[in-house]
Amino acid sequence: MLHVHEYERYWMIGVAAVLGVFMAALIAGAVVFGVRVPDKGEIINPNELQNTMFANPGVFDMGNGEYNVVMLAQKWSFNPAEIRIPVGAEVTFHVTSRDITHGFIIERHNVNFELVPGHVAQARMTFNEPGEFRYICHEYCGQFHHAMHGVLIVEDTDSLAQTAD
Ligand code: CUA
Repeated sequence: MLHVHEYERYWMIGVAAVLGVFMAALIAGAVVFGVRVPDKGEIINPNELQNTMFANPGVFDMGNGEYNVVMLAQKWSFNPAEIRIPVGAEVTFHVTSRDITHGFIIERHNVNFELVPGHVAQARMTFNEPGEFRYICHEYCGQFHHAMHGVLIVEDTDSLAQTAD
């Protein structure tokens, strides 16, 4: 058997333990917290958006509680500027920019894009908590960057139904 000095063995155990902690953190991030590395995504021509789904941005009810949000960002607004969905809605976002790089982040939800012209950012999110959540541009994009925002309203359909009774 290869002789390993006592101190060297401690260091080997220590290194293995640290690597194990790092690996556990990676796995926990991916599995428990749903952290994802953005993929390359869909590529489009930002000068020909009229030939894509972005010719007609909006919120689309796909049935079975699923919604598609097709959103166009530009200096200095989001279209649509308001999204209204029922609680429990499973939403797939398709977002792009028509001019320069913008950002898109939804308050208190794990939807966070850098919007680069020519790329379609996509994410899926289920909204289980009723409320109003702002989405804002978080990439500095010029004079009215601060005015570039919208609101996502998750409606509590149960309470609406009860008040209707
Ligand atoms: Cu768009 Cu900042």
